Amino acid sequence: MAEIIDTRIEPERAIEKACAVLSDGEPVAIPTETVYGLAADATTPDAISRIYEMKGRPRFNPLICHVCDLAMAEAHVTFDPVSRRLAEAFWPGPLTLILPQRRESTVHTLASAGLDTLGIRMPDGFSRRVIARFGRPLAAPSANTSGKISPTSAAHVQADLGSRLKLILDAGPAAIGLESTIVKVENGRLRLLRPGGLDAAEIEALTGLAIERPEAAGAVIEAPGMLASHYAPGAAVRLDADEVRKGEALIRFGGEALPGEADAAIVLDLSPGGSLREAAANLFDYMKKADASGAATIAFGPIPSEGLGEAIIDRLQRAAAPRG
Ligand code: TXA
Ligand code: MG
Repeated sequence: MAEIIDTRIEPERAIEKACAVLSDGEPVAIPTETVYGLAADATTPDAISRIYEMKGRPRFNPLICHVCDLAMAEAHVTFDPVSRRLAEAFWPGPLTLILPQRRESTVHTLASAGLDTLGIRMPDGFSRRVIARFGRPLAAPSANTSGKISPTSAAHVQADLGSRLKLILDAGPAAIGLESTIVKVENGRLRLLRPGGLDAAEIEALTGLAIERPEAAGAVIEAPGMLASHYAPGAAVRLDADEVRKGEALIRFGGEALPGEADAAIVLDLSPGGSLREAAANLFDYMKKADASGAATIAFGPIPSEGLGEAIIDRLQRAAAPRG
């Protein structure tokens, strides 16, 4: 099992140990405000390979590079004016920008899977302090086996990757609980590659641009991680349930009971008070809890589609997609 260091109790030891392990070319699980990441030195091909290996992730799926400040970002990518405004407004935070990689950038091509762009983000929380001390960008996908639910706690990481990992930094439950929103600016157009923890409406409000959404399933895969069947629990998933069938696990939203609940394996409410922010923070943990109940199917009650609901529903549709 991996060593877990609580960053709230031993911040200095956490940073030092993390940097030592990273310098050895080994991945470390780090807490970000979105989900826990599996981080490695983005400039070292062997270290990046270890991420793909540990996750069982296809190598054509590029990784996000995490930076501690704008200066570090500027050493690796070129900002257009719209992307710069987004970075200044929303970093550190749950926003990933896809930007052209600079020729001088030392981020290895394995991190970008050979693309000429980099996905780049300045995370909030303890991980940013680790990057600042390490002094180089960290490539980090979510710290889960490829295709499974992203981890929002150190315990989730330990249960999934603990036997392969050396070190997990524990900063408590992830504040946001959904992966970052990914956008790409092209010729003054703003495209949403993945809905996530930053509400797309906030991006539109800041830039005055209408964000373009990907076509429904089947469109060109621009963020290759967005293949169908992703974020999958072990159980089957049934969406928009208006009643619970015997033995199903139920995850609902908004505090209202559904018919048939008495016969459910477990009933969880993402936010009894109807907060989408709270629902996002609870989503992955509740999916894991429902899975652990042993039910063959997890039924989800209806969830509003505005604001963060867009990203929540996106993850649920992927969880419900036919498994490949
Ligand atoms: O919140 C997050 O974004 C978390 C934390 C750890 O930062 N990371 C995360 O990474 O969700 P991952 O690997 O699970 O998802 C990264 C997504 C993938 O869908 C990948 O295809 C896309 O980012 N991506 C990365 N670089 C890209 C690029 N150059 N062009 C297009 N998509 C890119
Ligand atoms: Mg992931």
